[in-house]
Amino acid sequence: MFLDAPGGSQVPDEVGDAIARALREASANIGANYETSKRVEHVLATARADAGRFLNCSPDDVIFGTNMTVLDFTLSRTASRDWKEGDRILVSRLDHDGGVAPWIELAADRGFEVDWIDVTQDLRLDLDDLERKLDERVRVVACVASSNAVGTIVDLPRVSELAHEVGALTWVDAVQYAAHEPVDVQALGCDVFIASAYKFCGPHLGVAYGRHELLESWRPYKARPAQSEPVGRRFEPGTAPYELLAGFSATIAYLESIGGMQALAAYERELGQRFLDGLPNSATVYGLQTMEGRIATFLLNLEGVPAADAALRLAERGYGVWAHDNWYSLGLREKLPYPQDALRVGLIHYNTAEEIDGFLSELSHLSK
Ligand SMILES: Cc1ncc(COP(=O)(O)O)c(C=O)c1O
Repeated sequence: MFLDAPGGSQVPDEVGDAIARALREASANIGANYETSKRVEHVLATARADAGRFLNCSPDDVIFGTNMTVLDFTLSRTASRDWKEGDRILVSRLDHDGGVAPWIELAADRGFEVDWIDVTQDLRLDLDDLERKLDERVRVVACVASSNAVGTIVDLPRVSELAHEVGALTWVDAVQYAAHEPVDVQALGCDVFIASAYKFCGPHLGVAYGRHELLESWRPYKARPAQSEPVGRRFEPGTAPYELLAGFSATIAYLESIGGMQALAAYERELGQRFLDGLPNSATVYGLQTMEGRIATFLLNLEGVPAADAALRLAERGYGVWAHDNWYSLGLREKLPYPQDALRVGLIHYNTAEEIDGFLSELSHLSK
């Protein structure tokens, strides 16, 4: 039973089949007159259209890349080409380091300042602290849409509103969020939004949105003869992983075929509540205590049972969960009270009520 969705999701057969088919039938380069080249172009156009539908943006404004971290390193450098020494970058304590390290390294190279937006007692983003830290020198507010460690969802429309008041960009790490909530980059008001398909039953492939005028304004790092249209293509240097793009389209088709993200989010909320309601008294959940404002990713400890031991014993009983110290969320780790490790349980749409009940009963046994 896979209860580690925040680490990586299981992939349906049709995604693997689409990848294999693309390798067999569409292995060529684009721009030629022969049939396989046309098929590759079709794969590319379809993947862009599918990503546009998934994110609610124009297919032109989609950027594919290796994964979230590589996209973040690349796009942060592209965005900042004309920034000045002393410009400021805000990251948040809820962030995964994949969304922080690119800015820290950039700041080290270019003389920018990085500051942290704090979290509240219940591990939500502290919007008052964001307001206090915003000024005219802030170029970007970078934060997760939801935490990979404790599951908190960030109020992105509000973050975007505040960032835009001082002329800063809202730069969103949506690796977890996009796997659990319907995405509407327009409604969220963000300028850049980056996700990773392997968290939502797809291949290992990053996908990003950039606001159209912003992408038009950036000078890309690309080989000069390579295509410049659509605008998103400028920021995908080199040959694209065509077979993974075919797998991406199959992933979106799969998610739509089982009801789409709206329905899946509602189902996951029910499952998450069932999990919270059934936890033994010995469990401490860090952060939000209900499903309000969170996805079904929970960080917890059982009294008297070290998390590493619990993960091992649960694995022996057939449950895939993970124990770790910081979850790559280094800013958040300083706020978490446990001495060593905690156990993360992350649910996704393919998990069932029976699995949750079985898992809860194992947790109760462990606690005895
Ligand atoms: C919130 C968050 N951001 C970024 C990443 C890194 O993503 P990627 O593996 O696509 O680089 C992860 C991976 O778990 C994550 O959970």
